[in-house]
Amino acid sequence: MSSAQTSDPNISVPIARVILVASTAALGGFLFGFDTAVINGAVSAIGEQFAAGPFLLGFAVASALIGCAIGAWFAGRIADRYGRIRVMIIAAILFVASALGCGLAFGIWDLSFWRIVGGLGVGAASVIAPAYIAEVSPPAHRGRLGSLQQMAIVSGIFVALLTDAAIVAVAGSATAPWLLGLEAWRWMFLSEIVPAVIYGALALTIPESPRYLIARGEMKRAKEVLTRYVGGNVEKTTTDILKTVEGKPDRPRFSILRGSKFGLLPIVWVGIGLSVLQQFTGINVIFYYSTTLWQAVGFTEQDSLTITVITSVTNIVTTIVAILLIDKVGRKPLLLVGAMGQFVCLAVLAVIFATAPIVNGEPMLEGAAGTTALLAANLYVVFFGASWGPVVWVLLGEMFSNRIRAVALSVAAAAQWAANFVISTTFPALASVGLGLAYGVYTFFAFVAIFFVLRFVRETKGRTLESMTDTEPARAMKAPKAAK
Ligand code: GLC
Repeated sequence: MSSAQTSDPNISVPIARVILVASTAALGGFLFGFDTAVINGAVSAIGEQFAAGPFLLGFAVASALIGCAIGAWFAGRIADRYGRIRVMIIAAILFVASALGCGLAFGIWDLSFWRIVGGLGVGAASVIAPAYIAEVSPPAHRGRLGSLQQMAIVSGIFVALLTDAAIVAVAGSATAPWLLGLEAWRWMFLSEIVPAVIYGALALTIPESPRYLIARGEMKRAKEVLTRYVGGNVEKTTTDILKTVEGKPDRPRFSILRGSKFGLLPIVWVGIGLSVLQQFTGINVIFYYSTTLWQAVGFTEQDSLTITVITSVTNIVTTIVAILLIDKVGRKPLLLVGAMGQFVCLAVLAVIFATAPIVNGEPMLEGAAGTTALLAANLYVVFFGASWGPVVWVLLGEMFSNRIRAVALSVAAAAQWAANFVISTTFPALASVGLGLAYGVYTFFAFVAIFFVLRFVRETKGRTLESMTDTEPARAMKAPKAAK
């Protein structure tokens, strides 16, 4: 892969150049993963130190998700008004503030406040990374470049968990006083300052999105960026982009998403549907519950780091599969196979848990049932990691027209965070009725996901962003010819 193939090979761009820029934007994904996972190692220490019960602790954890939804909601409009890069800088500042605030918190309430601040950053990063990457990528490589974001998310989760474990290993325990007399758990949060500063500093070195620049009338700068990163026929691309942003209001508003039917444009509903279904098949719960499954086949609680490492590595490796396939087979086939695989794995888990004997209030998975459940849960992660994990973010970055992209992506991402909140907060209640029920619910949504993809998702492989229209009926969303 030495040079990017574009729709018109007038200008050939070295792919390494665009990989560098896309990776910087994807660092926002790293912070997204890091910020959401870092609290895991700190949570029981926080409970002890601030004498917080399960409700307040649960709130401290889940509060970040509220911030994420709000951050995502506003990020698109800010990105349209002040630029993509500025949103990255704002997100980096929010990450630093949250890391400091959480690390130096006096009690559970201000800690929760600073978690929400970090959530605002996560939400903003979750919108800006896919939008920016799609906007600077040559069409033929847009899928794999967009998948870098998910790679960064899962790496961020992994590094946060390793950081937590390393701090505990050196300090002795999460509550033990460590550097500067601060307890070890505080350093877990403070460690986020490092990637956050790197993200902010690197964001200052990358070019503004050409689509944003053209919408602002900055043609000369836009052409420079197109020439350096996107390649192809720059004059034609500029004219095409210009056509698609005509009539775009100066002040970005949600009203541009309005459609005659169902309140919003159908394409926005498709984005919301993809987002919600990605969450409603229970990925974040599966992660959370994997320890119990591993224990069922003989691992102990002390092995939890090994377990986490295995699950995270599985997720990272399967993201590579998506990167290799997404621009070859397309987005739709990956989503379809992924949803079918997730459906089967979840159905197996639902049946095993629904039929497992309960001992001391916990389901007992012995012998073959335990091994099968473990395999099913890991295969589930494989299917998700190679499909819905990266592909949904890629699609959200590229499926909307230039005119509505940032705001539409904001709405879809906010819906995704809201769905994440619903799934995370309802899981304990569902699980208390029975894990069979919990997995049953996720199985149902995986089933819905199969039909949703077949009926509503259009293939975007190889298409230019300028060919995405907001009114293209779902039925006509067949794979058009890939740009070569
Ligand atoms: C996707 C999801 C996110 C999840 C992650 C795990 O990025 O959006 O909620 O935690 O995948 O791989």
